[in-house]
Amino acid sequence: MIEKEEVVARNDIAARVKELGQAITRDYAGRRLVLIGILNGSFIFLADLVREIELPIEIDFIRVSSYGSSTCSSGTIQCTKDTELELAGKDILLVEDIVDTGRTIACLKDLLSSRKAESVKICALIDKKERREVEVVVDYAGFVVAEGFLVGYGLDHAEHHRQYPAIYKIVSGV
Ligand code: IMP
Ligand code: MG
Repeated sequence: MIEKEEVVARNDIAARVKELGQAITRDYAGRRLVLIGILNGSFIFLADLVREIELPIEIDFIRVSSYGSSTCSSGTIQCTKDTELELAGKDILLVEDIVDTGRTIACLKDLLSSRKAESVKICALIDKKERREVEVVVDYAGFVVAEGFLVGYGLDHAEHHRQYPAIYKIVSGV
């Protein structure tokens, strides 16, 4: 059993996701936008976010594990599921659950930038500053959180707790 305390309530998540969707709708009007969800953590956030975007969009997914085979300036990742859409000439928005050290998202930005996309930007539900090692610009951040291990709304601890409708900090039990 874990002990957890709520850090972002369900209603506050919904309100912020709506704002992010409105900002994206404004910024990408007239563009060819592809949202790429980073599996598994982004699945709930992405599902809610796309329903707040009033533009024709495409959706794809990518899955990576750390310490794999492709190196980039910020570390090493392995793509265990790659994107499938044609990305050349399109505007990519990477949708991530949480940016922590920044290594994963920095590697993915490098990887996708090499595919002749028009632009690659980052949207993260949580921008967690405590352990940042690589400087990354989170273009659209849902919430900035100072510290702690978070679960819920897609975020997991050892693949559990993703299903909670709010975001919690684990206070003991792991
Ligand atoms: P980074 O490369 O250190 O930025 O790693 C980010 C990844 O670590 C995210 O995609 C999450 O899967 C995971 N992660 C980092 N912090 C947390 C957290 O507080 N809760 C759940 N997962 C986390
Ligand atoms: Mg995870």
